[in-house]
Amino acid sequence: MTMKNKVTTAIFPVAGMGTRFLPATKSVPKEIMTLVDRPLIQYAIDEARAAGITEFIFVTSRGKGALEDYFDLAPNLEEELRRKGKTDILKMLEDTNMDSGAIAYIRQHKALGLGHAVWCARRLIGDQPFAVILPDDVISADKPCLQQMVEAYEETGGNMVAAMEVAPERTSSYGILDVENTDGNLLEVRSMVEKPSAGEAPSNLAVIGRYILAPSVLKNLDQMKRGAGGEIQLTDAIAEDLEQNRKVYGYRFQGQRFDCGSKSGFLQATVAYGLARPELRDDLADYLKSIVPGL
Ligand code: G1P
Repeated sequence: MTMKNKVTTAIFPVAGMGTRFLPATKSVPKEIMTLVDRPLIQYAIDEARAAGITEFIFVTSRGKGALEDYFDLAPNLEEELRRKGKTDILKMLEDTNMDSGAIAYIRQHKALGLGHAVWCARRLIGDQPFAVILPDDVISADKPCLQQMVEAYEETGGNMVAAMEVAPERTSSYGILDVENTDGNLLEVRSMVEKPSAGEAPSNLAVIGRYILAPSVLKNLDQMKRGAGGEIQLTDAIAEDLEQNRKVYGYRFQGQRFDCGSKSGFLQATVAYGLARPELRDDLADYLKSIVPGL
């Protein structure tokens, strides 16, 4: 892998209105909602950093100011913690600090779809491959999902999307892959389609919100073609790369994915991440056992 192909930039589409979490999202961006004690966006950032990402592009919209504040330094708070000798909390806070200038914020002025959101970042991408992380998809894994993908991508190049099997009746919520060859975790994609109905889906292999993409995908988005739901779809722009004889791989990641874009998924993630915390585990497990007989 040459330096030129190293993946160092990630786009975080965070412009969505979060209507499924109203009324909370009237004033709190969905990405700031907390899983145990960390905002959703922090999990996405941690995963990106683990994969070697150093440049972070947030595609935001009106009302997302709390996200920018969250990534500011908090010198007064840090000073107060230092004074009180709360070194553990201070360390935890410092670990979330970002280098000055590492995050760029771009506004998506119109809600035209995920493809359009990613396209809004085009001027900051240049001719390098880049990652896209959808913070709604929280993935708990021994080796963070994007890191798994970056390692696989170093062998394959092309484009890569995280993939996972979903229940056949759920295909209409996802980008769905049609694959021709499988080599372990790596799937060679023949075509892909956004949100097909159960009867029309070529498989039940769904795209999950982690991508490593070639700049050609941004070029494809220049055409502003409308797809499923009348939106400009990222899936369609990746599929166009296939038509132009560029490769797309699905990567079956190790780990458990939570759909934190849904209330049920968010609650499940809250339980799972709570149980994974040594300081919460016993209390939470006892409570769950007490309310669910036979657990
Ligand atoms: C987006 C993508 C879809 C992908 C999904 C993963 O859909 O358009 O291809 O499968 O994320 O979570 P959304 O959930 O934004 O409707």
